[in-house]
Amino acid sequence: MKQAHAEQAVGAAGGGALSGQAELHPNHFREIAAIMQSDARIHLSEAKMTLVHSRLNRRLRDKGLTSFTDYLALVKRDPVERRSMVVALTTNHTHFFREAHHFDHLRSHVAPELRDKVRRGEKVRIWSAGCSSGEEVYTIAMTLAGQSRPTASWLSQGDIRLLATDIAPHVVDAVAQGIYADATCASIPEGYRKIWTMPVGSEQRVVTDLLRKLVTPRVLNLFDAWPMRQKYDAIFCRNVMIYFNDEAKAELEERLVDMLVPGGFLYIGHSERLIGPVTRRMKAVGQTIYQHTGEGRA
Ligand SMILES: C[S@@+](CC[C@H](N)C(=O)[O-])C[C@H]1O[C@@H](n2cnc3c(N)ncnc32)[C@H](O)[C@@H]1O
Repeated sequence: MKQAHAEQAVGAAGGGALSGQAELHPNHFREIAAIMQSDARIHLSEAKMTLVHSRLNRRLRDKGLTSFTDYLALVKRDPVERRSMVVALTTNHTHFFREAHHFDHLRSHVAPELRDKVRRGEKVRIWSAGCSSGEEVYTIAMTLAGQSRPTASWLSQGDIRLLATDIAPHVVDAVAQGIYADATCASIPEGYRKIWTMPVGSEQRVVTDLLRKLVTPRVLNLFDAWPMRQKYDAIFCRNVMIYFNDEAKAELEERLVDMLVPGGFLYIGHSERLIGPVTRRMKAVGQTIYQHTGEGRA
């Protein structure tokens, strides 16, 4: 597909606007990219001009506006629309059991220690940071639960909480609902699907109460202050850092590692890597799986 060039407007067909679509000029794009960088630390390269154009044209229509100049004026005076614009430009693609080797590791290397912690009366905490609509956190829950009621009994016997956070309120609402289309649930292995989800409504399934009760969904910008006090046994921050520049990645990774218990695990996406000072504090223990050595910041 031909990509937009920074000096060329998107939505311009032979110099005229496509019917019903406002033109996105390079100066509009630069303003939008600056807001994304300052509010969410999301880096938008010029290659994203077409995507920005199509996602924001919908917001212009909803607001009854016909130009990006007017829309940006609105964004500048209205903090609610500014947040809606940032959310509209997030990418929320996810699915159940994505990067399955992480859940193999969780099941075989982490869950036994977590069960021991519960037996000792200690808390278990896991965080899905940048959780999107919840497929990740419910995959974690299913992995801990196993494929039968008896293998899940320890989950209701201890203080176990799975925190799921995202900057986008609509996906956090979806986590709270725990309802997914049948087609979405098709990627859950049958042994888990038949016990931990139930048919509901038309062509949908709901995650069972036992697992939903473990999950606390919250809206959180990863670059704001974090209200959490306790440390985490494992943090999943996968396919989130790909949207940030190196400076933001290094800053976030250092903060995530600060939130791990010594020996805790950090799972990142397949195309992500640890950079900066944090590499000294983490040991690679699998493909994009890292364990906290217990070392503090330099
Ligand atoms: C591609 S999804 C990844 C979902 C899931 N972790 C996975 O791997 O399937 C990326 C998520 O990160 C969220 N996100 C992006 N920037 C964020 C920020 N600054 N703070 C919190 N969440 C953010 C987006 O809203 C989106 O839902």
